Amino acid sequence: MASLKINRRLIMTPGPVAVDPRVSQAMSNSILGQFDPDFTDIMNETMELIRASFKTKNKWSFPVDGTSRAGIEAVIASIVEPGDKVLVPIIGRFGYLVTELAERAGGIVHTIEAPMGEVIPQEDIIQKLDEIEPKVLAIIHGETSSGRLQPIDKIGHAAKERGVYTVVDAVATYLGQDIPVDEWALDAVIGGAQKCLSVPSGITPITFNERFSEAINKRKRVEKGIRTSDDKATSHFITSNYLDLTQLQDYWGERRLNHHTEATVNVYGLYEGLKLAIDEGVEQRARRHSYHHEAMKKAVTALGLEIFGDENHEMQMVVCVKIPDGINDAEFRTELLSRFGIEIAGTFGSVAGQIWRIGTMGYVAEKQNLLNFITAFGVFLQSKGAENIDPAAGLEAMSNYYDEHEL
Ligand SMILES: Cc1ncc(COP(=O)(O)O)c(C=O)c1O
Repeated sequence: MASLKINRRLIMTPGPVAVDPRVSQAMSNSILGQFDPDFTDIMNETMELIRASFKTKNKWSFPVDGTSRAGIEAVIASIVEPGDKVLVPIIGRFGYLVTELAERAGGIVHTIEAPMGEVIPQEDIIQKLDEIEPKVLAIIHGETSSGRLQPIDKIGHAAKERGVYTVVDAVATYLGQDIPVDEWALDAVIGGAQKCLSVPSGITPITFNERFSEAINKRKRVEKGIRTSDDKATSHFITSNYLDLTQLQDYWGERRLNHHTEATVNVYGLYEGLKLAIDEGVEQRARRHSYHHEAMKKAVTALGLEIFGDENHEMQMVVCVKIPDGINDAEFRTELLSRFGIEIAGTFGSVAGQIWRIGTMGYVAEKQNLLNFITAFGVFLQSKGAENIDPAAGLEAMSNYYDEHEL
């Protein structure tokens, strides 16, 4: 068998995206034992960086080992008990993922839905809170499947006034847009590694507040074998072991109680990715994403494509465009990848096959990548027979935007 050869790619999808070589380099360091003081120092510093990334004072800010859905599942499985009502606003695929996780935790799920491409007014969600009186409101901030940014700055406060816990999936917007967790009164928020943070998938930063911690600790059960006489038993314990946030608190907190074997290398990568992001600045990073998002929008429009979805509520790291008539979604994307090494994404649900999602996330969001992308994409689209496509106009619009606008 030949040794591994990975071809070069320009990943213009909403994740996973390329990582900064400094992150890869950090991940090539030697293994430390998970209770080595050198490593526990890195854990503490990583928690500090996660706090800064979410602009929160939450003590409980640590990563969950596993992809982003492990982070979401840990939060849901820890807060939702059988019979609890959970309200899930749905504007695309990832809203359904949360309903799935809540149902599997035994929750009674209520939804409020908008068609793909739209968002739900916060007032409507608040009204639904009064109607349903759920224990948990679980919502997606950046709905990657439709490229929409769901406003959430008011609902956390409204939920808190009603005694509801707000859980936010900020997987796709994390460190690409500002998410001031404390200011927005969000109880538990899940970020993502492989998107705007640009760290390999497999580790997920989360944060939750004291109010949330108190609620989940009513269901705490330390596993047999490490349980002490001080650990109270409860009959309505959190049913997941691996994703039990209370046991993870004991591992990431002062007690340092053994749980899983930490993926130390992933923590190195997360640490370095976070350090780079915090050094850049959370707000500056958000500005960078909006800046390149605008460049891409101007270019694809000048190229002759139509933008999909409510333009007042766009994620600032995904441009959704309608696939031109006569172009086959999967065939085009496959060929774009095999010939040019460029990857863009299709989508799911009611608009699958009708739109493409072009991501400008994290390490990928820089001028040369976008200019290279628009050149190859435009010419290839025209060569495949798409009508009214003007590759030169697309490139010119992007170049002019960059000439006329400073980051
Ligand atoms: C908004 C959102 N939530 C959750 C997920 C699931 O993340 P993962 O595939 O890392 O488990 C994704 C992945 O694309 C996402 O975009």
